[in-house]
Parts: sequence; structure tokens; C-alpha cells
Amino acid sequence: MAPTPLSTHSAVTLNVNGEKHTLTVDHRTTLLDALRERLDLTGTKKGCDQGQCGACTVLLDDRRAVACLQLAVAAEGREIVTVEGLAEGEQLHPVQQAFLDLDGYQCGYCTPGQICSAVAVIEEHAAGWPSAVTDDVRPEAGPPPLTAEEIRERMSGNLCRCGAYVSIVQAVERAAGIRAQAARTAEGAQTAKGRGAAA
Ligand code: FES
Ligand code: FES
Repeated sequence: MAPTPLSTHSAVTLNVNGEKHTLTVDHRTTLLDALRERLDLTGTKKGCDQGQCGACTVLLDDRRAVACLQLAVAAEGREIVTVEGLAEGEQLHPVQQAFLDLDGYQCGYCTPGQICSAVAVIEEHAAGWPSAVTDDVRPEAGPPPLTAEEIRERMSGNLCRCGAYVSIVQAVERAAGIRAQAARTAEGAQTAKGRGAAA
């Protein structure tokens, strides 16, 4: 008796930038190809297609991931954010704005991946994650200062063939400063509210 042919395709529902899309894909389809070729989300770029350049970086459940090494079928149930999903309407994400203001790019090919990566780097740092160049990795030491060295290390998975690194580091530094200021303001408002309630 002839063996039953194995199915090579499956339906998958991808939650991208807050919208659900159901597609039938070959099991070998990468998330990168599904985003670009099936959903027309071409902001995410294909560079090496083998996990080495970071051009295809997206956020998966708030963590950065290279979409060329993820299978689309394995991304079901995850929250996927691409560079197209970072702005709020006309308001650019602070990282996008900082890249624009500080010329954090030249040809722009690596930029969507750099920006997605930077968004996650800033959150990882604020959460106290150490990097390979952090001197004091004890949890009680808290986040290390986000120096240029720290930023370079944390962004080292994103290559830029134009060599726009100096401006990229400055843009990440600026966006991280804006995030820290916003966190301090929110904390101050919370404390004032608490005092008001106690009075
Ligand atoms: S295209 Fe995915 S890491 Fe280069
Ligand atoms: S800006 Fe051209 S590759 Fe980075």
C-alpha cells in the first residue's frame, strides 16, 4: 500500500502589529518570507537570510528575534511587531525619531532591524539585564550606565554596511534617555497621587 503523502502546508494565524492574519504556508516558510511576501510588510529586510546580519529583526513577545531563523508556523500565538507597527498613528516611536534626528542611517537597508533591536535593547537595559561588557552583573547592582560601549555590545547583532554606527549609538542613547525621563515622570506622578490619597 502506498504511504499517505505527508502534508507540507498548514494554516497559521499570525498576530502582526495587533492584526491577525490567517495564511496557508509551506512548513518551511520563514517568518521573514511570510511577512514580506505574503503580508506585504516589506519594512523588515532580508540581508543574509541566515541569522548573521540582523536586518530582519522583529519583536516577538517584546523580545528581539531574527525573522529569517523563525518558521512562520512556529510564530502562531506570538505577538509580532515589525517596524511598521512601532509608530502610534503619525507619532513616530522615540527610537524612530532619534534615528531621523541624528542621521542614524545612510542607505537605510539595515535601519528597520536596527530600530526594532534598539527598542528591545532599551527595555532589556531598563529591566537590568547585563551585557557581555557589564562590569557588575549582580542583580542588586541594577542597570549599568548605558554607555556607548554597552550600546555597541547590545546592538552588535545588527550590522550596517554603510558604517553608520556612530550615529546609531547616539540615537539609541537619546531614545534611552527619553524613555528614562518618561519613567521618572510617571513615577513622580504616581508618588504624588499616593501622597494625595494618604493626605
Ligand atoms: S536576514 Fe536575518 S539575520 Fe540577516
Ligand atoms: S544604513 Fe546602509 S546598511 Fe546600514
